[in-house]
Amino acid sequence: MSEALTVLGLESSCDDTAAAVVRVEAGKRTRILSSVVYGQEALHVDYGGVVPEIAARAHAEKLDICVKQCLSEAGCALRNVDAVAVTAGPGLIGGVMSGVMCAKGIAAGSGIPLVGVNHLAGHALTPRLTDGTPYPYLMLLVSGGHCQLLIVRGSEDFTRLGGTIDDAPGEAFDKTARLLGLGQPGGPAVERQAASGDPARFRFPRPLLDRAGCDMSFSGLKTALLRTRDQVVAGKGGLSPQDRADLCAGFQAAIADVLAEKTRRALDIYAAEHPDIPILAVAGGVAANKAIRAGLETVTAQAGCEFVSPPLALCTDNAAMIAYAGAELFVAGRRDDMTLAARPRWPLDQTSPALLGSGKKGAKA
Ligand code: KG4
Ligand code: ZN
Repeated sequence: MSEALTVLGLESSCDDTAAAVVRVEAGKRTRILSSVVYGQEALHVDYGGVVPEIAARAHAEKLDICVKQCLSEAGCALRNVDAVAVTAGPGLIGGVMSGVMCAKGIAAGSGIPLVGVNHLAGHALTPRLTDGTPYPYLMLLVSGGHCQLLIVRGSEDFTRLGGTIDDAPGEAFDKTARLLGLGQPGGPAVERQAASGDPARFRFPRPLLDRAGCDMSFSGLKTALLRTRDQVVAGKGGLSPQDRADLCAGFQAAIADVLAEKTRRALDIYAAEHPDIPILAVAGGVAANKAIRAGLETVTAQAGCEFVSPPLALCTDNAAMIAYAGAELFVAGRRDDMTLAARPRWPLDQTSPALLGSGKKGAKA
């Protein structure tokens, strides 16, 4: 890339409406000029999960406000933008359509080139945005909607080594919090409880560790937790604060063990291919969990591997990652037109068989 590029990004695939402006320049660290995220938590809180129709309507209402705000915060006029990048899938289809239509409107009205971006590619390329991580690297993407281990070789070149066949870990944390009467989002609530709990008191299963490969399963864990909770309640007539803390600690330890072991296996496969440059990068809200992070740090240290962990605000859903991924695609020559479609499913690795799970937060791809 010879000159600097300014890219506007839009994200609306789940329950965050986001817009951002990034400036990408060859040989320099990418600058995020602005990044605006409007979460929708309050709109969905009474329903126990994201309601697609409510999400889509809220995105449609907020997108142009987000765009205006991020351009103004970046001190940038639309005429100075070189491309508009938008999440075109995978995700909840109404939300993705809202974003794609907004981006098409901007492109049609201003003549700015349009680039459709895979939301998962946005997450997967985030270490390049934040740390300038060179290709290739191994990525663990672990959030409320996704869980995959990927070799990232290029902006459109991914190999999936494994992923969840049912729930994503964040979903499992959220459901566990609900079963124990804790607030949402469940991950931070469970982690807080686990801090004063004994992870050894209740031994939860480590699903699929007995099976070769890097696929994972988390839906059985919540059933195991429900059964254990009911046994404690039946025996004592209720849950004490210590019971709750011990249940959280046991549950968290099971998830951390599974993620660490499956990542260790993926690192083995990756290192056999790329012995010189072992890098593990993480993204997704669940990567904030200290026990999970500690497990991954141990595994990477044992493998002599570098561990890249972008700041949390860029691990969770945001539009800066979409703008950045759009910039890489733009530089590679990608241009979309008014036929750009919103896709509910869009696997990064088109050669791997589809993963089965499709939870409340949309398709897992
Ligand atoms: O990446 P993210 O913000 O949104 C998407 O799912 O796309 O991830 C949110 C998920 C929620 O399920 C939340 O419970 C989980 O990440 N999470 C955590 C923690 N912080 C957020 N899970 C475990 N421990 C945490 N500290
Ligand atoms: Zn996401």
